[in-house]
Amino acid sequence: MTITCALLCALMIARPVAAQSPTSVLSSDLVTLLREIKAADTDQLAVSEADGRFLRVMTASSGAKQALEIGTAFGYSAIWIGLGLRQTGGHLTTIEYDAARARKAADNIRRAGLSDVVTVVAGDGFVEVPKLTGTFDFVFLDAWKRDYKRFFDLVFPRLTPRGLFLAHNVVNKQTEMRDFLGTIQNNPALFTAIVTPSGEGMSVSYKLR
Ligand SMILES: C[S@@+](CC[C@H](N)C(=O)[O-])C[C@H]1O[C@@H](n2cnc3c(N)ncnc32)[C@H](O)[C@@H]1O
Repeated sequence: MTITCALLCALMIARPVAAQSPTSVLSSDLVTLLREIKAADTDQLAVSEADGRFLRVMTASSGAKQALEIGTAFGYSAIWIGLGLRQTGGHLTTIEYDAARARKAADNIRRAGLSDVVTVVAGDGFVEVPKLTGTFDFVFLDAWKRDYKRFFDLVFPRLTPRGLFLAHNVVNKQTEMRDFLGTIQNNPALFTAIVTPSGEGMSVSYKLR
């Protein structure tokens, strides 16, 4: 058998990428933790794994440094964002209304080894965001859907030019946020796209100026 033939044969019996575990590049401890969070999330609050992976790509590729999440739940999406920020040297502040969820999220983030990257704030985002200093270059909104427009209005003035504003459930819960969707799709200072890593849908808005 020639070397070329041996190589071709090896490639033919190699498992196709799509058949490999989609979490293969994460440490086994992190895979276990992420699965544990999902298994305990009986109300299905967390984003899908596909959406989590998308958030990681967006934070890492945008070079985000000062990120904000509103709606932490148990920290699943915050971990994915934190993994992206680990690459950029950035930091995430994530706000959760429910104190017990915030405590659990902080513990999950600690177990993920991301306590130095992610800070969990327990409280109402409408109260806590004004207390934060500085600007944001990456925002992920995943709180109650009918509040999206109010949260956008609160945060948008503090989003830096070239910053990204992402929101979850913009497809499956679009009827609960028509005002928000109208705003991000018609604002001349934004490029907005709706993407569907999974069925819930995410808006991605890029601030031009
Ligand atoms: C869909 S869950 C978030 C899931 C999380 N992003 C994830 O993927 O792991 C929505 C969370 O937003 C929280 N929430 C709702 N309104 C809020 C507010 N005004 N301020 C802070 N958190 C809020 C809820 O308590 C709930 O835990």
